Amino acid sequence: MPLVAVAGTRLHYLDRGRGPVALLVHGFPLNATMWLEQMALLSDVRRCVAVDLRGCGRSDPPTEPALTMERHADDLAALIDVLDVEKVDLVGLSMGGYVALAFAELHPQQLRTLALVDTRSEADTDEGRRRRDDTGQRLMTHGRFDLAERMEPQLVAARASPAVRRRIRSMIETTRYETILAALEGMKGRPDRTPILGRIGVPTAVITGEHDVIAPPAAGRAMADAVAGAVYVEIAGAGHLAPLEAPGAVATALRELFAAG
Ligand code: MLT
Repeated sequence: MPLVAVAGTRLHYLDRGRGPVALLVHGFPLNATMWLEQMALLSDVRRCVAVDLRGCGRSDPPTEPALTMERHADDLAALIDVLDVEKVDLVGLSMGGYVALAFAELHPQQLRTLALVDTRSEADTDEGRRRRDDTGQRLMTHGRFDLAERMEPQLVAARASPAVRRRIRSMIETTRYETILAALEGMKGRPDRTPILGRIGVPTAVITGEHDVIAPPAAGRAMADAVAGAVYVEIAGAGHLAPLEAPGAVATALRELFAAG
């Protein structure tokens, strides 16, 4: 399993397929394994690299109190250098999409195409920041099982299979406490990146689950409208974790995007 040293930590990533690199960035509080289906479906056209963001999955534990989107974006840039490629197709889901937008701002020269999946460009509202504080406090008293129990219904549509639900719970229940807290802090502090959308100069797809209640279709459509030439794809029957809930439809959208890159 590849583990690379970047900027004071070690990042783990899954690596499958041949061809130009597609870099897949997971959401909160998940890990690279959420992309296994996409890696299987896309490995004939792309070398799919699914990274465990700093502190997540099998990457080293975090030492910083806040895992910022900019820190993650810089880590991705360093990982791309280690992979020794100039550009990637960057695919980010939810928090991974926040990271992808930070990357588009800070490292645009390393982008070939961009996929913003079940995500949004705005900062948290005051109410949203308060909810993150509550989540952190409750985590430390009730634990990760409770977090997974409360999050799962928000993450998938009603028709999601028991197998998908179990995968998600396993990911949440094995994410480190310190990572969850640092991720909440990082997301709380992220800026509104809506102004970045008009500056994106690569083929872009915004992909959203029809029943996503965290980054709803209206937010996805608005982002797609703001990026020149972007395609908006709604995934029928899926919720916030469309790549897990409807892998085939998401892979089809990504293939079309990659072909445009
Ligand atoms: C995610 O799926 O990454 C989270 O729902 C993002 C968030 O909490 O804003």
